[in-house]
Amino acid sequence: MNELGRLEDLPPDYVQALRAQNLVPLWPSLRAVLPPGKPRPNTRPTHWPYQALRPLLLQAGELTPMEKAERRVLVLANPGHGLEKMQASAAMYLGMQLLLPGEWAPSHRHTPNAVRMVVEGEGAWTNVDGEKCPMQRGDLILTPTGLWHDHGHDGTEPVVWLDVLDLPLVHYMEASYHVDGPRQSVKPGHGERAWLRGGVVPMPVFQRSAQAYPLLRYPWTETRAALQSLAADQPELQAVQVGYVNPETGAAAQNILGFYALMLRPGQTLRLPVRSPACVFHLIEGAAQARIEGESFTLAEADTCCAPGYSEVSLANTSASAPAFIFIADETPLHQKLGVFENRD
Ligand SMILES: [Fe+2]
Repeated sequence: MNELGRLEDLPPDYVQALRAQNLVPLWPSLRAVLPPGKPRPNTRPTHWPYQALRPLLLQAGELTPMEKAERRVLVLANPGHGLEKMQASAAMYLGMQLLLPGEWAPSHRHTPNAVRMVVEGEGAWTNVDGEKCPMQRGDLILTPTGLWHDHGHDGTEPVVWLDVLDLPLVHYMEASYHVDGPRQSVKPGHGERAWLRGGVVPMPVFQRSAQAYPLLRYPWTETRAALQSLAADQPELQAVQVGYVNPETGAAAQNILGFYALMLRPGQTLRLPVRSPACVFHLIEGAAQARIEGESFTLAEADTCCAPGYSEVSLANTSASAPAFIFIADETPLHQKLGVFENRD
């Protein structure tokens, strides 16, 4: 491959003349924007142990009252992007959010899509588009683009959840904004009562629902049971994995990021295919080891780590007796919609 000319090979007054006209020569930067063979990601394999994060998050509860925070969140920032960018990968933002008993995170809506993966505590709820969703460990709750949401807490202990948003992408597109609103009234009924049974969907007088997001809460008890049934009934399955989908369309639950739950059998090691999207792994239950591009992270419960796209990843259950359950978020729907998705296996 040819060595291309560098900026310093050009006469300084020529570079200055270009700059004065808002012009830039491409060739000194060509290899950086079109590297050979595969991308050079800023996203680095990074591990956020919950044991280190938790006391700092609880301290935020003492230091900053809710009215000064609106959302009391410590962002899991990838150092490869620079911490101030507040992104885990090119398209994913991760935050650990704390809500104390009696607190209320006021109602708003925004263009980025969000989901919550509940980490600890009982008694909190998220009201999404008038549907009051209880928050229990391992539950996945959607707050898709444009839907009003607020968070409240009627319990007695702190509640923590992991937020996953497509904020970096929507912000990069200069399409990110929010609107504050009044406290939302709660409607009767829950999507999960109508849509959570596989194989049947509500179809009154032969009409399918026109709701874009009919199912907002995916209870962990159901997801975990689905994984255990798969594992028990299909012992030959190498990867016991489910995806969170929109029950009306069968497509990914949200437009930009994909969400999955994986069960590793006792002692199992699973090598993932080399794929273009970046991935986030959050250990719901058990003990695991993640190997990402040769780096090894020991995951305890509630730990989170991320892998850049195009990387070699393997996940191992380090317990010989208990299963491990991992929540995965990735950029697959985005890559597929843009036509840049690759699986190199
Ligand atoms: Fe929000």
